[in-house]
Order: sequence, then C-alpha cells, then structure tokens
Amino acid sequence: MGKFAALQAARACVAARHGMIDLPQTLPQTGIGEEAALALLGAAAMDLRADLAAPDVLAHMDPPSADVAARMAYLVAQANQNLLHAATSPFATQAEALVLDWIVPAYGMAWGQFCSGSTLANLTALWAAREAGARKVVASAEAHISIPKAARILGLDYHSVPVGEDGRLLRSALPDLADAALVLTAGTTGRGAIDDLAPIAAKWRHVDAAWAGPLQFTHYKPRLAGIEAADSIAISAHKWFFQPKGAALALFRDPDAKASISFTSSYLARPNTGIEGTRSAAALPLLATLLAWGQTGLAERIERCMSIAEALAERLAADPRTELRQAPETGVINWRPRYADAERIVAALEGTSSGFTIDGEFWVRQVAANPHADVEALWQRIAAALG
Ligand SMILES: Cc1ncc(COP(=O)(O)O)c(C=O)c1O
Repeated sequence: MGKFAALQAARACVAARHGMIDLPQTLPQTGIGEEAALALLGAAAMDLRADLAAPDVLAHMDPPSADVAARMAYLVAQANQNLLHAATSPFATQAEALVLDWIVPAYGMAWGQFCSGSTLANLTALWAAREAGARKVVASAEAHISIPKAARILGLDYHSVPVGEDGRLLRSALPDLADAALVLTAGTTGRGAIDDLAPIAAKWRHVDAAWAGPLQFTHYKPRLAGIEAADSIAISAHKWFFQPKGAALALFRDPDAKASISFTSSYLARPNTGIEGTRSAAALPLLATLLAWGQTGLAERIERCMSIAEALAERLAADPRTELRQAPETGVINWRPRYADAERIVAALEGTSSGFTIDGEFWVRQVAANPHADVEALWQRIAAALG
C-alpha cells in the first residue's frame, strides 16, 4: 500500500471508531481515577482528531502547534500562573513583556496586549477606537464576523463597504471616515485578500491581520506595506505563529490608548488592561517558539506554506477539470471543479477544505496553514474527489 493510501486507510479506521468511547452520560458519583481518565480521554483526544500536520491536509486557518510550544504550554498549565498578578508570575510577566518587545516594533507599534484570540484582539482594539472618539465601524463586506460583532457589542454603527473583483475593500466606496474606525483586513478569511493598507485619514485605523500578520517576518513583508500606519493591529498567534489555541495579540500605536482600556482596583498591583481579567502565560510558548526557531525558522515555515499554496494553485489552474479563482495572496486558495458540483467536492474533501461564496458562486476553499503538507498528496486527494 502506498504512503498516502495507508494514510487514508488509517483515517477510515479512526472514523470507524468515532463515537465508540464509552463515557457516563451523567456526572459520575465515583471517579475512575486520574490514570484511567487520562488513558481513556487522552487516547480519544489524540486518535479521534483531524491531524493538522498530515501531508494531505490543507483545511482551515489552523496550523499544527509547534512542538516546542505544545511542550511549553504543558508547563504553563502545570504552573498555572495568572498574569493579572505580576508578583505571583514574575518570570511569565517578564517573558510576556520580552516577546512583545520582539514583535511590536516590527509593526511600528508602541505596545501590545495578549488576548485569547483575534475576536478579542479586534474587540479590544475597537474599544480603544471608541474611547478615542470613533462612532462607527467601517469594514469590507469580506471582513471577519468578529468586526460587526465588536461593533454590536460596543454600540457602534456598522458600515459594510463592497469589495472589488480581487476581494479588497473598494476605497472608492468608503463613506466619510472623520468619526469612523476603519478596519482593513490583511488576509481575509474567505480568500486571503489583503486590503490596500496605504495611509488614509480616519478617526482610527485598525488592521485585522489575524491571519497574514506574521508575513511581516518573511520575504512576503512588502505585501503588508502600510501596516505601520495603523492605530491598532490584531494578530492571531494561534495561526501563523504556530501556537496552541488561545493566543493572539492586539498592538497599538499610541501609548496613551492603554489608559483608555485599563481598569484598576485596590486589590490589583497594576491596572488590568483589555477585556480579559485572569490571563494565562500564553506568551511563554510563543517565546519558546521564537527562541527555538529564530526569525529565520519562523519565516521558513510560513514561506513553505505559501509555496505549497502557490504550487497547488498552479496545478489547479493548469488542470482542465478545475478552475482557480485567483492566485493565492496569503496562502488561501479558492477553486472549483468545472464538471462537478463544488459543494459535493467540499463534502468529499471533508477535513481538508471548506467553502466560500464569491459573488453568489460557491468555491472550494483551502488554507495553507500546514507547513508539512505535500502537494502530491494534496493533489491525489483532490483527484480522487474529482473522480
Ligand atoms: C481575518 C480574521 N479575523 C479575525 C478572526 C478571529 O480570530 P479568532 O478565531 O482567533 O477569534 C479570524 C479567524 O479566522 C480571521 O480569519
């Protein structure tokens, strides 16, 4: 059996076992013991999962965790530090400040805040925008759902701007921005487009770089030209920084913005900035990863993802059975079969694709988040789905 056929067979085996774990349906009165619980759940959690690092997987914006990060995260969970209290987390607090010092200047920002995801990083940034006087949020029709969600939470009006053929916000369709927080996206969720980030007059400019922000450390940096002109930037560390889930950054240009989103109380040694109170030492796995890989190692992995997307896109464009929507700008590929139903293909490629609708037409979406993917293995799966 070939390498990739063996992978498929193993996957079918796992799928057959799905649902076969025997667990109590109500809270048990007596426990089974820690070792037994770990044996049961640990095996299930690892066996019955999509392997994000498999050679034929290119699914969502979910890279496999860096091994060094996963191992550091285990120690972080053991120590269970709360970064709200610097005195009880002295090293983790320093580590957080250090990793921010490594990252923040690369984007031309003054300070940064860890958050547990970019939904929260976007909300935190737009909260600061509102405190600075923004009264409405303006973003493209392909902005992530966390942007209208943040506007709703913050009680701000929301204005959606159409995108052009290339998926970028149409600057010519922008409303008056004098009282607006303008949100530009660097790597849209659906097709990975980067809005024009060139400076523009607005009350506040936020860049949602949840997905493509880490390109700043690669040779693709020119694609983010203009990001330094933002007032705030959101970046998911659990995307292209290869961190376990629960890590993102909100970065800010104005040092004074910090006070506007900070609260204090007599029980706190220092103000609590941002939305979350208790915060984990998510900075430590990120510090460990960047220390282990250096900027070169990080860039290599992201650039590999980009090359995989480019090579797969070339094959999709060349094959008479498939149509490519556009060249991938940030590793997101949109394509469709010429002679089959795209929704059927997404179903057949379960676990390695999703769908995205552009101008009322349904496209297969694949995201090169997996640096271990192999174009040949990916192609074999696509070819099998095409039939
Ligand atoms: C462009 C963009 N912004 C924000 C988010 C939200 O990030 P999170 O899922 O970390 O909350 C995503 C998630 O995919 C995204 O693609």
